[in-house]
Parts: sequence; structure tokens; C-alpha cells
Amino acid sequence: MRVVTIIPTYNEIQSLPLTVSRLRKAVPGSDVLVVDDNSPDGTGELADRLAAEDPAIHVLHRRGKEGLGAAYVAGFKWGLEKGYDVLVEMDADGSHQPEELPRLLGALEQGADMVKGSRWVPGGKVVNWPLHRKLLSRGGSLYSRILLGVRIHDITGGFNAFRADTLRRIGLDSVESVGYCFQVDLTWKTLKNKLGVREVPITFVEREYGQSKMHAGIVLESILLVTKWGLASRWRRLAGRTAG
Ligand code: GDD
Ligand code: MN
Repeated sequence: MRVVTIIPTYNEIQSLPLTVSRLRKAVPGSDVLVVDDNSPDGTGELADRLAAEDPAIHVLHRRGKEGLGAAYVAGFKWGLEKGYDVLVEMDADGSHQPEELPRLLGALEQGADMVKGSRWVPGGKVVNWPLHRKLLSRGGSLYSRILLGVRIHDITGGFNAFRADTLRRIGLDSVESVGYCFQVDLTWKTLKNKLGVREVPITFVEREYGQSKMHAGIVLESILLVTKWGLASRWRRLAGRTAG
């Protein structure tokens, strides 16, 4: 299996080198793609220097901050074009521990089409997160479970591994979300295509350096889109039943 781990970055100059070196040690067989949105702090140039020293590291430069979803779509398209079999999503800030990636890849090998690193299943946990982030994450997952009618416990989680075929099947051009709702979007699209999603427990460790890019607009986008998707799928089911 050829694996590429995609790491989106915006102002992660302190965290990125630590995360990349941990990843290269933990999963030496995985290539790395950094997708930088022209970070003002020089993360993009730093990534270029890392890439110059290690042929397994690649960099995609985008012209400006266009959101997590757009960065991942660009990274996935790059990876599919290059013929990788497995594409992984991982935050740059150390919250997703590279040492846990082999367990995610193992679940994919056992047959899952998408594997989610999950904080909210038995064995999963969060270290150093303030209460409001825990509530937001659990609340967001609960809201999505109810509206979308899915059984996933950590649908907003961003430590995910996909088979290339899964991404081809769901069609990246249909992605609507710009912010972190992208994680829900991909999971929902995978499930709607009748593909198998497996949750694997992870320990999410809050970042030590830099700042979260989470803001109110990201939460609002998630509420609006999840509500729209949930209502649309109920409507389709209802219409199907009436027609039948
Ligand atoms: N290229 C690019 N462009 N990268 C971005 C952008 C963007 O617009 N916005 C955020 N990132 C990168 C960050 O640099 C980091 O590597 C990663 O995306 C996650 O961003 P954080 O800002 O650290 O996210 P968080 O810790 O608040 O949120 C985490 O939890 C969310 C809720 O569960 C992440 O794991 C999210 O993916 C997850 O949805
Ligand atoms: Mn983070």
C-alpha cells in the first residue's frame, strides 16, 4: 500500500517540524504532503526546506487562506493523481499523534473504506482541551448523529484514513464545506455511498504551540450544512416511501 499523509498548515512553524519528524519515524513508509495556505509566519518555506532534505516530503503551496476543506481537496487530488492507495488526514499541531496512525491503517487493511480516529468511543480521549471545546465537539457529533441518523461518535474528527477508491467514489468536486465541517461532509458522503466507516480510539492532545483556527463562522457553517443535509435526506426518504 502506498500511503500519503496530508497535513494542512496555516501558521504552524513551531509544530510542523515536530509532527513531520514524529510521522517519518512512526510510519517510515508514508509519504507526506504539506498543504500550506501561504502562511505569513513562513511555514511554507520551512516545509520546502524539509522537502529538500527528504524525498518522501512534498509541499503544495496555495495562494491564501481558503479553509481546511479547500486545502484537503487540493491535497487529495494531488495524491490521487500520483497514484497513492491510501490518503490520510492529519493536523499539523500534534493533536493527532503519528504513533497512532499504524492502528488506523490496520483497520483500513482489515477492510474498512474509511477509518476515523475517534475521541468519543471507549478508549478514546482528549488531553488538555477546555470544557467549551469538549462540549462543542460532543454537541456537534450528537447533533449530526440525530439529524443525519448515523451511528458515528466523533463525526467532526480530523484524523482520518481513506482508501483512494473511497475518495474517487464520493467525488471531491461535490464537496460543499469550507471549514472543519469538511470532516462531517466526507464522512457523510462515505456513508451515503454505502461504504464502511470504522472508528478507532485515539488520544487527541491539545496543541502546545500556536493557535487554533477555529472561529464562530466554522461552527455556523457546520450547523447550517448538517441541518440542510439531514432535512434533505429525511425528505428523500419520505418522498421515496410515498412514491412506493
Ligand atoms: N491550509 C490550511 N488552510 N490549513 C488550515 C486552515 C486553512 O484555512 N485552517 C486550519 N488549518 C490547519 C491547521 O494549521 C492545523 O494543522 C489543522 O488545520 C487543524 O486546525 P486547528 O485550528 O488546530 O483545529 P482545532 O484543533 O481547533 O480542531 C480540531 O478539531 C476539530 C473538531 O473536532 C481539528 O482536528 C479539526 O479537523 C476538527 O474538525
Ligand atoms: Mn488543533
